[in-house]
Amino acid sequence: MDIKIPKLSIGEITAELPIIQGGMSVGISLSNLVSAVAKEGGIGVIGGADIGMLEPDFGKNFKKANERALRNEIRRAKQLSNGIIGVNLLMALTDINELIEVCVEEKVDAVFLGAGLPLTVPKTLIESKNTKTIVIVSSGRAVKVIFRHWERHHGRIPDAVVLEGPLAGGHLGFKYEQLNDEKYSLENLLPEVIEQVKVFEDKYGVKIPVIAAGGIYTGHDIYKFIKMGADGVQMATRFVATHECDTSEEFKQQYINAKKEDITIIKSPVGMPGRAIRNHFLQEVEKGNKTPFSCPWQCIKTCDYKTAPYCISLALTNAKKGKFSYGFAFAGANVYRINKIVSVHELMEELKTDYIKAAEDDLKNG
Ligand SMILES: Cc1cc2nc3c(=O)[nH]c(=O)nc-3n(C[C@H](O)[C@H](O)[C@H](O)COP(=O)(O)O)c2cc1C
Repeated sequence: MDIKIPKLSIGEITAELPIIQGGMSVGISLSNLVSAVAKEGGIGVIGGADIGMLEPDFGKNFKKANERALRNEIRRAKQLSNGIIGVNLLMALTDINELIEVCVEEKVDAVFLGAGLPLTVPKTLIESKNTKTIVIVSSGRAVKVIFRHWERHHGRIPDAVVLEGPLAGGHLGFKYEQLNDEKYSLENLLPEVIEQVKVFEDKYGVKIPVIAAGGIYTGHDIYKFIKMGADGVQMATRFVATHECDTSEEFKQQYINAKKEDITIIKSPVGMPGRAIRNHFLQEVEKGNKTPFSCPWQCIKTCDYKTAPYCISLALTNAKKGKFSYGFAFAGANVYRINKIVSVHELMEELKTDYIKAAEDDLKNG
């Protein structure tokens, strides 16, 4: 049987594999991981939020430090690979517009916008011929709201949609009570998002790829969501457990050690729930203990830094550096299944083999 894994086309750009490595901010997905994924035929995505935290002037010049670090990482990723490179940015960032400008200037292939509805975005991105805009949503309703806003205010629609379901790692676009409600599973949300996107595809006569994300772990999972009508998948947790991932060895070790019962939902200072690995730091937060901090800039619009029990930016920076007494790791719901670190090449080969096996089994079973 000659089974082919479909490519993923977003407008005129085409990835050989329908696999996007989800952006992971605060230093987890940088040029090393991103270029390795792009070289393998997937789409590598730099996590752009607080990317400048290791720059020497981050403490007093955070916007400039972020812009500089983002520019450097994009350039380095492009030097290391000819593949497709994107940047993930949170709408809730106070420097979102400046960081989008860097992406447009550096001609990244795609900007992924999440954590808040990507309604108003800079004109340069709307008009860019080089940079696609991909919006991250958690419902069909969000597609309708965003696309209608874009039609009215920007005279065009976004280029692709990532549907991030409740099993994803990091901040989640759901209410706490929705996270365990079957109605909001990725499997149940995907058809409504595809249907909503189709309204706009028909209207404009263009293909708008829908990418499924959250808890996707094997090639079998990829096959399942593509069979359901997704054009590709976005995966993040599995890419953390690779040699190329830009985070510390201690961070990766947290992934290997995590058991199912260690995975928890936190109430992030950002104002959204987030999935993370429970540790002593988070247990102290749960008990109501605060880590005092000063906030010279407020990096997240929605962060109530005066009442927040800790600084999320600092906690995630500490985790990136491996200092887990002062931080914690975000992770997807399937992190407990990880038991070793592999290369991005090995991971991609495993996913491809498993995809083909799932497709063959499906054909055999009719
Ligand atoms: C450590 C970590 C950091 C993340 N950071 C971001 C981020 O900065 N922006 C974002 O939109 N999504 C972020 N995510 C979500 C991923 O991009 C991805 O969509 C999601 O985790 C997919 O689910 P999976 O991890 O089960 O594959 C993060 C996920 C993880 C595990």
